[in-house]
Amino acid sequence: MRTITVRSPANIAFIKYWGQIDPVIVLPQNESCSMNLSACYTDIEFTKVSDPQIQEMEIREFGHSRYRQSTRDELTKVTIYYERIRTLYRLKEAFGFRIRSVNSFPQKAGIASSASFFSALAYAFMRAFSLSLSTEDLSILARLSGSGSACRSVPDGFVWWKKGHDNASSHAYSFAAPDAWDIVDIVLVLNTAEKQISSIDGHAGALSSPYYLSRQRMLPKIAQQLRAAFEDRAFERFGTLVEQEAMNFHSVLMTQSPPLFYWSGKTIQVLQEVVNLRKTGTACYSTIDAGENVHLICQRESVDRLVRHFKASGLTQTVLVNYPAVGTHEI
Ligand code: PMV
Repeated sequence: MRTITVRSPANIAFIKYWGQIDPVIVLPQNESCSMNLSACYTDIEFTKVSDPQIQEMEIREFGHSRYRQSTRDELTKVTIYYERIRTLYRLKEAFGFRIRSVNSFPQKAGIASSASFFSALAYAFMRAFSLSLSTEDLSILARLSGSGSACRSVPDGFVWWKKGHDNASSHAYSFAAPDAWDIVDIVLVLNTAEKQISSIDGHAGALSSPYYLSRQRMLPKIAQQLRAAFEDRAFERFGTLVEQEAMNFHSVLMTQSPPLFYWSGKTIQVLQEVVNLRKTGTACYSTIDAGENVHLICQRESVDRLVRHFKASGLTQTVLVNYPAVGTHEI
């Protein structure tokens, strides 16, 4: 292997992962599930070089025509991950690398850019170290990047992340193929600015919320109901659960210490608008990741109407229409 190009999707969680049992190996406090996004992905071109001293990365951000050098922080996350893989898998080989990374969507704005980047990188490291891993094992490797939700970008379509009890048992798997159900995630980008607080710091404070434990107690039942709604293709039931779960998740964020207020005034306006749209007969539901942008969950027949509606509202900077997508792969 010299140069390979890997594409990996971002994913939107229907049940959010929040809080870690073990931050070193990124063992989550709860199971989570998501859908891979067709229009939000990272492509990385990874070149393996023999000199281990060479560790370089260039990034082309959404909306930019040129690459920039990565910052020291960005590169450090990659080199720490590389060393972690060598240690955990007891690998003797050392090599250098040149990485070029391109995002099809704004990064660090609550659209899981670290999930798409680190799952793509996990694949590239797997190839560079000549590891032969199953999809489940690759999801474990992606989880170990530090961005836990990266594991859910590896398998195809609709993905479940099993909580597990140790490194080997906490992995992601596909519970339905991309064409299993025509669910659409319309990302309403209200602001492309990067969020101020990373989710790593957020996970650490999760247990300080007085609502955290009741959330944990509720989640197994919500997971069961959501899975049943999915199996029955019952969109209203499914969407209602997804929206309630997102609000439950943000109640924890807002009440943890220090609090995480990701929403802006525009976020609230969109949430209210979604309720109004339902009243007038359009089946659509909101979910929000760790950021201010809103993901509208709907079915294919409502996409054109919703895109027109929100483009005309003056609230959005960009609208990204996502269908269920395959997971991490080489292109
Ligand atoms: O993937 P991490 O470790 O950066 O955590 C992010 C988790 C959320 O995106 C906020 C929720 C989720 O399950 O996707």
